[in-house]
Amino acid sequence: MPKENYFVGLDIGSRSISAAAVCEDGGGRIRIKAVSSLDLPKGLERGIVMDIHKVSDAVGAVMGEIEDKIAPGGIAELNVGIRGESVQSLNNEGVSNIIRTDKEINIEDVYNVIENAKALHIKEDRDIIHVIAQEFSINKKTGYENPVGHEGSPLGVKAHIVHTSVCDISNISRVVASSGFQYNEPVYHIYPLGEMILSEEEKKIGSLLIDFGAETTSLAAYKKGKIFFSKELPVGMDELTLAISNHFTISSSSAKMLKEKYGFALSSAVKDQQFPETVEVVAMDDIRKKKVHISELKGIMLPALEDILEAVKSEFETQQNPNEEPPLAYINNAVITGGGALLKGMPEAVTRFFDINETRLGTLNPELFIVEDENAVNQKYFSAIAVASYPPLIRDRNEFEPAKKKYGSFKRWISVVKELLR
Ligand SMILES: Nc1ncnc2c1ncn2[C@@H]1O[C@H](COP(=O)(O)OP(=O)(O)O)[C@@H](O)[C@H]1O
Ligand SMILES: [Mg+2]
Repeated sequence: MPKENYFVGLDIGSRSISAAAVCEDGGGRIRIKAVSSLDLPKGLERGIVMDIHKVSDAVGAVMGEIEDKIAPGGIAELNVGIRGESVQSLNNEGVSNIIRTDKEINIEDVYNVIENAKALHIKEDRDIIHVIAQEFSINKKTGYENPVGHEGSPLGVKAHIVHTSVCDISNISRVVASSGFQYNEPVYHIYPLGEMILSEEEKKIGSLLIDFGAETTSLAAYKKGKIFFSKELPVGMDELTLAISNHFTISSSSAKMLKEKYGFALSSAVKDQQFPETVEVVAMDDIRKKKVHISELKGIMLPALEDILEAVKSEFETQQNPNEEPPLAYINNAVITGGGALLKGMPEAVTRFFDINETRLGTLNPELFIVEDENAVNQKYFSAIAVASYPPLIRDRNEFEPAKKKYGSFKRWISVVKELLR
């Protein structure tokens, strides 16, 4: 049997670290071989690394579990997902004149024009991590998906550009290095996530993607088959946990359990379910027991949820640029993911709140994925799976990506290096 080359994705979530290992199956699909995750109450704040040693120990533990589940030495490439408020994006255009006499556009011209789209006034402490081509124009006529082989000049491109703080990337590099690994690229997690869970049709008709995390909410909007908007919000579904914990003065783990087991986003979503009248949980002192009335949950959670949805809506209603329409103007549907999407009645609540046609829960498309680790069928792993799948599913299939790199075998850093970095 040929040796399998694994692509590993690390998702540094807002309160957890997850990893996934995938490999190509030869028939165009991706095999999900292993997933692993660890909750990290301290060390991370809204997706930003606050304590390098704590986070790197967690990364080491999660990666160790992944290595135990796959063939030794098989990791071909490790990429790290990034998120949090330091990630920002915008749409920009690039133009270049084709000065050869025949004016037939070749792939080098496309690389050049995409490079031109990167000319932005961003601060020195920021790095562009993705330039995602939306459409090309030739001699000012727009709408070309692939301009190679056409004749004309100038060549233009519209692109979605994602940039982030150099410091945050350095911190992530430190975390990964001091856990004993090296990684290849930072990947904005919502980019491969959208490619992975939205269908081509959904991206064409205009869809939203919302990833409801613990302390962050990641947003994206698609039209004409491409991403036109992305945004990281520093609010997340732990706000509901906090509201429950404060109201009943109970421990946050009890509050989280109440939210996940008995909470809901719409009363109609639980009308057929029998919930107990009271539940005994642990008080804030972590010692005493307390009885709480389940019927009170609604009045506590719904205002907190409304605040989050209001913050999301206000982003989708905002015009990013004077010549761009706000996402809600071109949206029909939404796909939701992340742990928070599992709150009972969330899809229906999103549909009503944004006044759109339909909202569905993100799933792993069987035409794209073969699930070999059953744990992977859980929203909380989707970002890690998306980042792991980024090379085989997106980058290496992107004809506009110059000089596709060939990766050698993955090296685990020797422990001396690990100690030096401590
Ligand atoms: N079944 C559930 N019902 C409601 N909320 C849930 C459920 N499962 C997880 N969550 C919530 O989802 C959030 C975590 O989502 P996750 O995507 O794992 O976070 P992150 O990616 O930001 O680390 C937490 O607020 C958690 O309480
Ligand atoms: Mg998540």
